[in-house]
Amino acid sequence: MTTLSVRDSKVVWHPFTFLKSKQLPITISKAKGIYFYDDKGNKYIDGISSWWVNAHGHCHPYIIKKVHQQLQKMEHSIFASFTHEPAIELSERLLKKLPGMSKVFFSDNGSTSVEVALKMAFQYWSNKRAPRTKVIAFKNGYHGDTFGAMSISARNVFNNAFEPLLFDVIHIDVPTKGNEKKAMLQLQNEVKKNDVACFIFEPLVQGAGGMVMYESYILNEMLALCKKHNCISIADEVMTGFGRTGKMFAIDYLTNKPDIICLSKALTAGFMPLGLSICNSTIYKAYITDDKTKTFFHGHSYTGNPTACSAALANLDIFDKPVTFKNITRINEQHLKFQVKVKQHKNILDVRVIGIIIAFEIRSKEKTHYLNSISETMPTFFLKRGIILRPLGNVLYILPPYCIGNKELKTIYKAVNEFLDSL
Ligand SMILES: Cc1ncc(COP(=O)(O)O)c(C=O)c1O
Repeated sequence: MTTLSVRDSKVVWHPFTFLKSKQLPITISKAKGIYFYDDKGNKYIDGISSWWVNAHGHCHPYIIKKVHQQLQKMEHSIFASFTHEPAIELSERLLKKLPGMSKVFFSDNGSTSVEVALKMAFQYWSNKRAPRTKVIAFKNGYHGDTFGAMSISARNVFNNAFEPLLFDVIHIDVPTKGNEKKAMLQLQNEVKKNDVACFIFEPLVQGAGGMVMYESYILNEMLALCKKHNCISIADEVMTGFGRTGKMFAIDYLTNKPDIICLSKALTAGFMPLGLSICNSTIYKAYITDDKTKTFFHGHSYTGNPTACSAALANLDIFDKPVTFKNITRINEQHLKFQVKVKQHKNILDVRVIGIIIAFEIRSKEKTHYLNSISETMPTFFLKRGIILRPLGNVLYILPPYCIGNKELKTIYKAVNEFLDSL
C-alpha cells in the first residue's frame, strides 16, 4: 500500500520546503491539546503552536462547539453590502481591548492584513491630496509573502528572486540593546522630513527574523516621534498578538499607540484563516467623502467569513477566563528559570525570553542566519524525542500552546540541553 507521505510527494508542493530534501513529510492524523499524532501512532509535543497559530491546544472542545453552532446557521456570506453578527461582535470586542482604535477591516491571513494596512496608509495620503509613498521598516523584519509584505520585509533569501519587483523601503536598525540611539537617530532623520507615509514594525519581537527582541520604552519613543512628524505607524502583531509577549497585545506595553494594527495567526486560536487590519478614526475619516474615487477598493472573497469570526469569538471567551493568563505567566516563569540554567552552556550565544517565547541562539562555525546548516539536523533530533520544533537557522525557539504543562515543558528543555551537548 502506498503511504500518504509518498502520495503527498507526487502531488503536493509544500511551503518553505527544499524540494530535493530526502525527508518525506510526516503525516499527522489527529491532534489533541498539546499533542500531534502521526499515522504510525507516534505522538509529538507541538512546541511551536503549529506555526504560531494555535493558542489553547488542538481541537479545543469549546471552540469546536462554537464553530459547529455557527456552521449550522451560516457558513459564509458576501461582506460588501451585507453584514452578520459574528463580524460585528468580534469587532466590538476587539475594539474594547484596543483603546484608540476605531474600525476593523477583514481579510484572511497575516500577509493580507499587512497588505491592507499598507494600502490604507498609502491611500490615506492620496485621499488627502498629499501623496506619500515612503515607508520605514526595521531591518531583519518579516511581514509576509505578498509583494507589499515582501517589500517591507528584510531583503534576504525569502525574497531575493523578486528583488527587482519590490518597492523601495527605508530599512532602519532594530533598537536591540545597545542599538537604541542609532535606530532612533535613523528614524528621526527620516521622519523629520515630514514626507514619510508610514513606519511599520513587529512590536517587541521580530519573529521569523530569529526571535530578535527589543524593549518597549524605545518603541514608545519611536511612536511619539512618528506622531510628532505626522507619520502613520503600523504595528504588525500577526505573531505577537494574543498573549505571546505576556500581555494580550505587545502594544499593551506602550503608552503611545499605533494608527493601524495587523492581527492574524492566533486570532482564531488556529482554527480558521482570518486577518484583521484595525485603524483609528484619523485613518478612517480620510475615506469618508462624497468622492467615490476615494473608496478603499479592497476585498477578498472570504472577507469577514462568519465561521472564522465564530472561532475568533470563542478564542476571546477563553482569553477572558483568568486561567489563560495564569498559564501564560506560568510558562514565562518556567522559561525564565530555564534561561538562567542554559545560558551558561558553552554552545549558547544568547537566550532571550519574552512572555511564552524562549529563543536560543546557538553557537556554530557559521554566522547567525536562516540558512545556517545547524538547522538541518535539529528538527529530526527533536522529532526522535517526540517534540516538534522548527528552528530559524541557528535560532531554536519554543512557543507552545498555553495548555502545555510544566512536565511537557521540562521534556522540551531536557531535549534542548541534549541537543546543545551533542554539538
Ligand atoms: C509578523 C508577521 N507578519 C506577517 C506574517 C504573515 O502571515 P501569514 O503567514 O499568515 O501570511 C507573519 C508570518 O509569520 C509574521 O510573523
